[in-house]
Amino acid sequence: MQTRVLTGITTTGTPHLGNYVGAIRPAIAASRRADVDAFYFMADYHALIKSDDPARIERSRLEIAATWLAAGLDPNKVTFYRQSDIPEIPELTWFLTCVTAKGLLNRAHAYKASVDKNNELGEDADAGVTAGLYMYPVLMAADILAFNAQQVPVGRDQIQHIEMARDIAQRFNHIYHREFFVLPEALIEEQVATLPGLDGRKMSKSYDNTIPLLAGGAKQLRETIMRIVTDSRAPGEPKDPDSSALFMIFRAFASEAESAAFRRALEEGIGWGEAKQVLYERIEADVAPMRERYESLIARPAAIEEILHEGARKARAIAAPKIAELRDAIGLRAMSSVSLHAGKAKLPSKGGKSPRFASFRDSDGSFRFRLFSSDGDELLLSKSFKDPKAAGAVQKKLKTLGGAAATLHTLSLSLVLELDGEPVANTPDYVDEPARDEALEYLREALDLLAAQESE
Ligand code: TRP
Repeated sequence: MQTRVLTGITTTGTPHLGNYVGAIRPAIAASRRADVDAFYFMADYHALIKSDDPARIERSRLEIAATWLAAGLDPNKVTFYRQSDIPEIPELTWFLTCVTAKGLLNRAHAYKASVDKNNELGEDADAGVTAGLYMYPVLMAADILAFNAQQVPVGRDQIQHIEMARDIAQRFNHIYHREFFVLPEALIEEQVATLPGLDGRKMSKSYDNTIPLLAGGAKQLRETIMRIVTDSRAPGEPKDPDSSALFMIFRAFASEAESAAFRRALEEGIGWGEAKQVLYERIEADVAPMRERYESLIARPAAIEEILHEGARKARAIAAPKIAELRDAIGLRAMSSVSLHAGKAKLPSKGGKSPRFASFRDSDGSFRFRLFSSDGDELLLSKSFKDPKAAGAVQKKLKTLGGAAATLHTLSLSLVLELDGEPVANTPDYVDEPARDEALEYLREALDLLAAQESE
């Protein structure tokens, strides 16, 4: 079983060593694990909340995509896409908005911080606050819930947003009486140390103490490392590695053995200038090949665009059926199915026909069944079961499922029905897509009828 891990990368600013060590590197390592199904995306709709400078938005998206790819993200293994390429995300945002308590959003840290600041300054509480900032947590919930993500790796500052996503998901599930959404969990990497910056405080853009990852090349990297603040011990005097930002940064890149050797060198009195050169060379050994890949990617933006399109295609293959299911569940349905869906599905009149299952033994000895509509049309053919009990158990589940809860994926001109993430039955191939889509409505109606009968 794979765990679906999803995270968003806000496309503002230029990545620094702290971002690399704290987010990019561990996310790429996780994406290589066989038990992880990773979804990484650029949160460019979120970026619009922070910036209204089109050039900056454009530049940042390109740089960040190139950085992740250069750092080793394999788009064949990971679903890597742009939020703004997935129209199902804003669509879901609205569905979620309509079940989200305004009071919940009032309590969001980012919004509250703006209000507090305004109050301090004697301004109107909402001065300068856009509805975008206010809605930030709902958009983020849609990012996560559209894909049924189980784990969401984030920094501590984002934990509240994940809790809100859970709240919103639960509220939706409750209102519409089904477990539509998996409840996501925040994944906080405990081992990943936060990297100190030039002044020893946490490396952060807001402290202006960052070391750039790729921007400015090797020269800029070296020059910035030379500005790391140290104590005034002279060459020859023993240095304390454990109170040194320089050593902590080194450790984030080096092996145990390399760190032990560097520790010894400091304790034996290596000069700070020389120590910084050692640090620079160690980081540059990791960064140089990345920088080379980065330059070649940045030179071919069309190739990056292509990778992101492919990612969006993969992502939408999951989000689109999910949204179709939700539309149906909340009542945004084709008019043709209105009467059958209104309130509870209507039971066939006494003596009237109802959908029915027919079990049979296949030529290879396995057990299968078909589902026929009330009119006798074949709706589904099950997969083969070795055991008739297993086939019976699936029929039993289908009887109580109901149309809205059925997970149905399109497979060119047919549909696949899934139960608990496993494909269990197929429709026949239809002549064209409209016929297939009509059959989808039909099938949902049949499932509703079965469920209504079961609950009688
Ligand atoms: N808000 C996140 C941050 O600033 C970025 C983000 C947007 C995100 N959507 C997400 C993270 C969904 C995880 C899941 O870091």
